Amino acid sequence: MSKVTSAASEAERNHIIKETEAVLNRFARKKQHLIPILQSVQEKLGYLPREAMMKIADYLNISAIDVYSVVTFYNQFRLNPPGKHSIRVCLGTACHMKGGYITLDAWKRRLKIDSGETTQDREFDLDIVACVGCCTKAPVTVVDGKPEGQVEPTRVDGLLLGFGYEEGKKEKEKSESK
Ligand code: FES
Repeated sequence: MSKVTSAASEAERNHIIKETEAVLNRFARKKQHLIPILQSVQEKLGYLPREAMMKIADYLNISAIDVYSVVTFYNQFRLNPPGKHSIRVCLGTACHMKGGYITLDAWKRRLKIDSGETTQDREFDLDIVACVGCCTKAPVTVVDGKPEGQVEPTRVDGLLLGFGYEEGKKEKEKSESK
């Protein structure tokens, strides 16, 4: 699996433009509406694609780089589409002390993405979070909203196995070797 880097497909682009325009129609062309517009577009699409940011910049008559700067400044905004499964590695103090960064590295290596990214097949997205309130179970990873405790690198493999990740990989390898 590799990260999502390519531009949206034609159908996806049309969908992005249509949804973005629907949001823009609800707002006056005022710069102070930039954040509520970004929030509404993200609510519709799950992230802020480049096409949407360009459209918003055009509508508000500001530069695309200004929109991008705001999007990257606030961590509520996502630049990548959400995956089917969300992986959130806790890096709060307790998890950090118990090797949260090692767990994060294990997820990165296994999914072949960095934090803040989504796998190419859009199965998983990876991010970091602050304390989720289960410090006694550190290091914690929140998988699809459910906190999992003692997630060491070997447990990462086990959790991925639970998603049939290994199985899928083996099947792919088998068909490629034919
Ligand atoms: S620091 Fe990770 S759950 Fe509290």
